[in-house]
Formats: sequence, C-alpha cells, structure tokens
Amino acid sequence: MEFLAVNSLSMKDVRTEAVILDNLSFTIGKNECLGIVGESGSGKSMTVKAMLGLVNPWLHVTGSASFNGKDMLQLDDKSLRNIRGRHICMIFQDAMSAFNPLYTIGYQLIETLEEKMHLAKKEARQLIIAELERVGLRQVPQVLQKYPHQLSGGMLQRCMIAIAVAIKPDIIIADEPTTALDAITQGEVIHLLHNLKDELGIALIFISHDLGVIQDLADHVFVMQEGKQMEYGTVEKVFKYPKNDYTKYLIQTRKKLSYTFEQAIRKDNS
Ligand SMILES: Nc1ncnc2c1ncn2[C@@H]1O[C@H](COP(=O)(O)OP(=O)(O)O)[C@@H](O)[C@H]1O
Ligand SMILES: [Mg+2]
Repeated sequence: MEFLAVNSLSMKDVRTEAVILDNLSFTIGKNECLGIVGESGSGKSMTVKAMLGLVNPWLHVTGSASFNGKDMLQLDDKSLRNIRGRHICMIFQDAMSAFNPLYTIGYQLIETLEEKMHLAKKEARQLIIAELERVGLRQVPQVLQKYPHQLSGGMLQRCMIAIAVAIKPDIIIADEPTTALDAITQGEVIHLLHNLKDELGIALIFISHDLGVIQDLADHVFVMQEGKQMEYGTVEKVFKYPKNDYTKYLIQTRKKLSYTFEQAIRKDNS
C-alpha cells in the first residue's frame, strides 16, 4: 500500500521565474526504499524540502504530496510540524551541523526524545542508549558525555540515525548521508540503513549522486536532471533497460569508475 504519493510537484522561484522542480510524481509504499539520484544541483534536496514545506517564501510550490491521504502542501504549520517531527524524519549530509556545539551529545539526544516522544528523562535516556547500541556505537555512556566536535563524522551520523530510529517514524529521508564520510564508514552506514529498513519496516527515501549505492539499497529509483524527472521505476528495470540518454550516461560512467577502481586494486595485489 502506498502511503506517500507525490503528484505533479513543481516549484518556481517567483523572483526570477526559474523553474526548479518540474512536474515530479512518485509514490512510496510501507517498508520500501526509493532512491533519488541526479548530479549536484538537479533538485534532489529541493524535492523533499518542497513536499515537507521547508522552502523559502519566494519559492512557489504546486501539485500535491499526500501522506496517509492528507496533502502536506495544504496542511497548516502545526499539523505539518507534527508530521515532520513524528512521522517523517530527515538525516542530513552534515551531521555536525545538526548538533549544537555547546551541549553534550547525550543532553541533546535525550532532550529531543523527551520533547518529541513525551518521555521522562530516565526513559528517554534508556531508549537512546538502546538505539545507539543498535546502530553499532560502543561505550555508549561515554559517548553521551562527549561534545559534537569530539566525535567522528561516522559516529555523529550514527547518532542521527539512532535518534531517527528511536522516534520510529514511517519514513526516514536520508539526504546524501554518507557524502562527508570516508569510504569504509560510508559502507557501514549504508549497511546499517539497509538492516534498519528490513528490521523495523521503516520506509526510506535515500538521496545520492552515487548510482552504486542506490542500486544496493533501493527498490525504486527516481532519476533527476535540472529539476526534471528523467526516469522512474524499479531498480532492475531502470538499470537494465534505461530509457533515456541521461540515465544511460550515468550507468556508463558508474561502470567506468568501478572498472578503473577494480583495475587499480588488481594492480595493488599483483
Ligand atoms: N533557497 C533557494 N532559493 C532559490 N533557489 C535555490 C535555493 N536553494 C537551492 N536553489 C536552487 O535549486 C536547485 C536545486 O538545488 P538542490 O535541490 O539543492 O540540488 P541537489 O540537492 O540535487 O544538489 C539549484 O539549481 C539551486 O540553485
Ligand atoms: Mg542536495
């Protein structure tokens, strides 16, 4: 059953008349992963921000984005904030900027859970400790006492994922969550998201410019270029039978990149 359906989503900058999103439509069912792929500036982040009402006032959004039958583009601020807080959580590229440098990680995670889940401090603490362990952090009580700058990018990203999972939303939107991480940590975080999706039945929108990651993680893929929908379908279909030149180009470049990478590894080993 689909519970998020985006229909003819468009967005224009009223100051310049520039069309930033042009007639986008897609759906997501429970426990599905949609990968949104496209090069930098193609409108990936704007697509999810537009549907969640997170854009500047000069950006005019049309179309519909219904979540459980309610069009989020028509909801008042309070209802929309409730959806964003409890039902749809976002994980960003730069986990560091999501935390306040002046407070410990523990203080911030626990406070967020107290507020969003209406929990007492003790319960919030127990819940976040369990979730931090689930996402593979070790020595959790010590981690809680640290300040954001004392943790690595990978650890901060795990904290973000832990808080999203603790809230148990219907959808997690991960906007290039691994771009700032090194290759090994990237792989671990993707593996983690994959497991969480299967374990907890949370739907995932995974935004990336990396086709390989999308191929591993997603059920459906949505390819964007310059604000337009270039291709949309199951991962198998789009990767095996790409319809348009842009997708073919992306797949070709991806193949070339991994070929070069494999060659390099072979050379190292020989
Ligand atoms: N606040 C803004 N006001 C107007 N245009 C913006 C704003 N932020 C981004 N844009 C434009 O929207 C387009 C899509 O941006 P974005 O969705 O961030 O791309 P992506 O996430 O695919 O890299 C870009 O061309 C960018 O210039
Ligand atoms: Mg972006």
